[in-house]
Order: sequence, then structure tokens, then C-alpha cells
Amino acid sequence: MKRIGVLTSGGDSPGMNAAVRAVVRKAIYHDVEVYGIYHGYSGLINGNIKKLEIGSVGDTIHRGGTILYSARCPEFRELEGQRKGIENLKKFGIEGLVVVGGDGSFRGAEKLTNHGYPTIGVPGTIDNDIPGTDFTIGFDTALNTVINAIDKIRDTATSHERTYVVEVMGRDAGDLALWSGLADGAESILIPEAEYDMQQIVARLKRGHERGKKHSIIIVAEGAGSGVEIGKQIEEATGFETRVTVLGHIQRGGSPTAFDRVLASRLGARAVELLLEGKGGRTVGIQNNKIVDHDINEILSVKHVIDEGMYQLSQELSI
Ligand code: F6P
Repeated sequence: MKRIGVLTSGGDSPGMNAAVRAVVRKAIYHDVEVYGIYHGYSGLINGNIKKLEIGSVGDTIHRGGTILYSARCPEFRELEGQRKGIENLKKFGIEGLVVVGGDGSFRGAEKLTNHGYPTIGVPGTIDNDIPGTDFTIGFDTALNTVINAIDKIRDTATSHERTYVVEVMGRDAGDLALWSGLADGAESILIPEAEYDMQQIVARLKRGHERGKKHSIIIVAEGAGSGVEIGKQIEEATGFETRVTVLGHIQRGGSPTAFDRVLASRLGARAVELLLEGKGGRTVGIQNNKIVDHDINEILSVKHVIDEGMYQLSQELSI
């Protein structure tokens, strides 16, 4: 393989640049040319493709976002979109591809591999919801963004003796809510993977109040319900003054943590190695601090699950 492509796709995540940098540098180290495909699969369809040099990724390892831009591209789910993308791969002589993104992006990678273009999926999403890896690129940074915000909210919650509901990202996955809730000692954590009982939440808040605890933090993953609605219900049921903060896209930005930079570097480099070994249709990941790879079809056929033990612990520690 003499020429590969790299793209970032789906919701961006801090550390994507570090992954792209690793792909570019590792490939060039092995005398392989690298082309950047801009705006995800849309760029593949439209031929928005440019050669990347060593210097193209200089001064990017610490930057959030993605220098290749990102997009969600429904057109690439259709055969016609894929056909246009393949025409451009042919035109630019690109023989294999690295795709940094979440599960939606991996579906495109699977399609390209089936069409004869070996493609490797590198998990980049703040949701931490990709099977086959303990961590996705960007999760650690987003988690730290969330806990920094909650620490601040806690200060004002204490001063005003209020209840705060904080809504964090995670349409289908509760990892960000669970980890931040545990890291911040939240009174309740609501995640899409587990049923919640409003009466129990209210009872816990009232118990705390009777013990003299006048402020509380409830973390809600967006997929578990609207923070605003849940805040209203809590205020009505408890009579405690309640405020809601929706953290939103602040969670997707910012300079990646050291953990995310190192993870992205290791995963990006491994993706290139796999292509050079003649492999495609794989995803890379980290499990027990070892870099691993899996069949992309297998990864796409299993659902990410929450760590039940951690969820149970969060319940036990917030009695
Ligand atoms: O998948 C990452 C993510 O940030 C989710 O947590 C969130 O639900 C979604 O993307 C938001 O997507 P968009 O930026 O397209 O609104």
C-alpha cells in the first residue's frame, strides 16, 4: 500500500487531531503517502481531498476539534453515495482508509471495505459507546470538562442551598453521566440504559435534606430525559429551589487531555500498521491498556453496555 486516506466523521471529539497526526506521521515514517479527506464522507463524495505532509499536522496535537472538519453524511449510507466516494478514491489513487469517528462512521468504513477498499475504524467520540475498546478518543477530555463545570455549579449550589440538575451529552449512552456523577458525588445519575424511579430520587433528596444537606446535584444524560423537565418535576415534588444547566456542546471542545492525546496517537498509529499488514474492516481499541483490533462487523453487531458494577457503586455511594 503506497497511498492512504484519513477522515474524521460524525460528532467531533477532542483528540481527533492527535489521531490524524499519528496516522499522517506513522504512514510517512513507512514511506506511505497520506491524503486528508475533508468534511468526513461528504468530502469523499465531493472530492474534497488534499495531500498531507509532515508539517500539515504540526502544532495540532493539543488542539480540540478536527483540522479535517467533520460532518454527518446520510448520503453515504446509500449505494450511490458510496459509488461517488469510490470514484474519488480511484481518482486520487487511495488504496486504504482510516476513519476516525463513532459507530455511524464505522458503518461507512464497513461499506468501503466490502467494496474492496480496506478501511480501519478508530473510535473517536465523547460518548464512549463503541464496543471493543475501554475508552474512545475524547471521552476523558469531555469527562474532565463536565466535572470542572459541576465543581463550579456545586459552589453556587452550596451558597444558595439549591438542587441542581445538570444535563450532559449522551443520546444513547450514559458513560459521561455515570463517570461524571461518580467523580462528582452526584446524588442521582439518570442514564438511558437504566430505568429511574422519580419517587426514589425525590425520597433520596428529602432524606438528605433532613440530615442537613441543603444542596444536591442530579446528573441526567440527554438520552434519559430532558434536564429541564426533570428539574421541574423535582422542584414540584420536593419544594426545593431547583436550577437546571444543560452543558451542551461545550463538552465536545477543548484541548485534549494527556490521556486522549496518547490514546489517539497509539490508535492512529495502529490503524496504519493494520493497513500495511494488508488488513481492512477492523476497528482499533484499547483493552486493559493493550492496543487491540476487532472485526468491524462484530463491533457493529454488539451494543455498548454500561458498567453495571459502576452504576451500582454510584447508587451505594449516594445513599
Ligand atoms: O455522538 C456525540 C454527541 O455529542 C452526542 O453525545 C450527542 O447526542 C450528539 O453528538 C449531538 O450531535 P450534534 O452535534 O450533531 O447535535
